Amino acid sequence: MQVALFGASGGTGQCVAAALLGEGFKVKALCRNAAAMDDFAGELTIIQGELSDKKAVHETLCGCDVTICVFGPHLPYTDIFCAEATAVIVESMHKLGVHRLICQTGAMVGDYPDNRSLALQKMVDLFNNRYPALAVDRSEQERIVRSSGLLWTILKPPRLTTGHVNEEIEVGCDLPVGVLSSASRATIAHWLIRELQHPSHIGETLFFLD
Ligand SMILES: NC(=O)c1ccc[n+]([C@@H]2O[C@H](COP(=O)([O-])OP(=O)(O)OC[C@H]3O[C@@H](n4cnc5c(N)ncnc54)[C@H](OP(=O)(O)O)[C@@H]3O)[C@@H](O)[C@H]2O)c1
Repeated sequence: MQVALFGASGGTGQCVAAALLGEGFKVKALCRNAAAMDDFAGELTIIQGELSDKKAVHETLCGCDVTICVFGPHLPYTDIFCAEATAVIVESMHKLGVHRLICQTGAMVGDYPDNRSLALQKMVDLFNNRYPALAVDRSEQERIVRSSGLLWTILKPPRLTTGHVNEEIEVGCDLPVGVLSSASRATIAHWLIRELQHPSHIGETLFFLD
């Protein structure tokens, strides 16, 4: 199976790339800065380009069976790009007949009060008031995935850490998360591999708790 990985240069992206390669998957990654993937030189195919570049996105997806999106904004959150990039990826997937899409957003994205403690919901409200364009962009990213007509799964981890793999991670649509909740990027990557090998969460929006 060949995987198109978007956001490979980030913390989760690097864990996912390592986990995929470790399990024998072929990987194509679109990166703004190819040098960020030097640790994987020769192990995966790097396409250098922007997420808004339709040609580069198409080239990345060509020959792939699955798409994984783990990109997201950096501070100071002035780059608003996730919804547009996701729309470009979805459009290209349809053109190429790539059907499976796994997209990571976060527990703080969107309108999910039932999954959040009161304190976390308060934090989300404050964050969204401070970064309204970002909040709209990420909710729109989720909407695009859900309405894509693809075999999609949305991953909504809480605060991400650099900890080890937790095989017993809790995953679910109804999982309650709080301000102290966390999940390691390595655990997310490990879970992703299992989901690729045995798809069982198609059409689900999943929360995680290490
Ligand atoms: N950090 C957390 O605690 C946390 C918690 C829950 C959910 N999340 C979400 O989980 C996902 C992965 O998080 P992470 O912390 O592992 O990622 P990260 O290390 O912040 O990496 C972000 C990735 O997005 C790319 N990116 C950022 N701005 C971009 C732009 N304007 N155009 C194109 N690419 C851009 C980065 O590329 P460059 O290397 O080129 O900048 C990088 O590959 C994100 O969606 C994030 O929002 C994060």
